[in-house]
Amino acid sequence: MKVSFKLNGEDVTVDVEPNEILLDTLRLKLGIKSVKRGCERAECGACTVLLNGSPVYSCTLLTVQIDGKEVRTLEGIQDTPEVKALVSKFVEAGAVQCGFCTPGFIVTAYAMIKKGVEPTSENIKKALEGNICRCTGYKKIIDAVTKAIESVK
Ligand code: FES
Ligand code: FES
Repeated sequence: MKVSFKLNGEDVTVDVEPNEILLDTLRLKLGIKSVKRGCERAECGACTVLLNGSPVYSCTLLTVQIDGKEVRTLEGIQDTPEVKALVSKFVEAGAVQCGFCTPGFIVTAYAMIKKGVEPTSENIKKALEGNICRCTGYKKIIDAVTKAIESVK
């Protein structure tokens, strides 16, 4: 089946199987490596992408479901002031170790910032509750997101 959508601002059309998940289409057919294969069952957030601006797990979506929609991955937002601030504050705070979870956290935090959510500690925790990090502990990540938000105000 042919599916057409916007990926990081570009129109793409790709041949997919009816049961193909977006995670596989992005990684295996479109060369998007920031999207990670973690749990593959909607638990870890490593595969997070933005679908029409909202964070979603790409392991839970069939690619046929996104026909005509807009997908953004870290590659498509990496030059924004918000992502530059997030990356810088993650590094400063020691919120990156193996880095496997980091793209998912950054994409989710970016969406939260763009939606103008009030950056209280509770709101940041709630926004990031669908992302798991096995290495750093969550305090460093929350501190990094808080400082990134302050720096782009
Ligand atoms: S790989 Fe999709 S949520 Fe874990
Ligand atoms: S830095 Fe390793 S899982 Fe988060």
